[in-house]
Amino acid sequence: MAREAGGVLKHYMNREKHVELKGRANLVTIADKEAEDLIISRIRQRYPGHSILAEESGQVVGSACKWIIDPVDGTTNFAHQYPFFCVSIGFEQDGKLLCGAVYDPWRDEMFSGGRGLGSFVNGERMQVSDAGKLADALIMTGFPYGMRDKMDIIISQFRAFLFESQAVRRGGSAALDLCYNALGRVDGFWEMDLHPWDTAAAVVILEEAGGRVSDFSGGPFSIYGKQIVASNGRIHDEMHAVLRKLN
Ligand code: IPD
Ligand code: CA
Ligand code: CA
Repeated sequence: MAREAGGVLKHYMNREKHVELKGRANLVTIADKEAEDLIISRIRQRYPGHSILAEESGQVVGSACKWIIDPVDGTTNFAHQYPFFCVSIGFEQDGKLLCGAVYDPWRDEMFSGGRGLGSFVNGERMQVSDAGKLADALIMTGFPYGMRDKMDIIISQFRAFLFESQAVRRGGSAALDLCYNALGRVDGFWEMDLHPWDTAAAVVILEEAGGRVSDFSGGPFSIYGKQIVASNGRIHDEMHAVLRKLN
């Protein structure tokens, strides 16, 4: 499903994308809509009673099994032909995230994870990095579409992590950022005001690769919450300490 939807993204990469605005800088393209329709129709064929939460078309309430879909995570990148975007599909049952798939059609990288089963990139098991100090860590972040109303806190967090870490990257796809954390390409990630479809799949993938996820103060993470700190586990407390100092 994720791979098939990725084919839709690849098809439109070098074509007219019919970009529309959902907000001041929040884009949607024909690929977001077509990929989402395709994923939903595949789920409907196989699991007609399941619930669905999808970024572009909203919620369908059904059974306690829920599919959480971001057809293009990284739409701004996609619209500009900047090759860092993915399809993200997470699955929750009775409020528990059980598995997820994140597919990067540009690099043909399929990230997948299942609770208790481990996580994989193109079938190879993944493991987080062993960086033990924030000073040696490469971390990622992103900025929410509502950032113009929260500039002060966003910039002060960014400044603090720039100062304390080895370097900070802003990828433009939270789901891929988290999968890169799972694969050890980066060591940590934080962001505020993400949506359930940005994180549902990738959080299982990261945890199953040995990573840790929480809110900004170290409390439990929820995909329905507003804060995420993710890491290889080893630098997690240091990341909290950075955020705590700003409150
Ligand atoms: C966005 C991306 C981005 C993050 C934004 C998200 P979208 O999702 O994940 O990295 O910084 O907060 O909204 O809109 O491209 O699906
Ligand atoms: Ca997204
Ligand atoms: Ca999206």
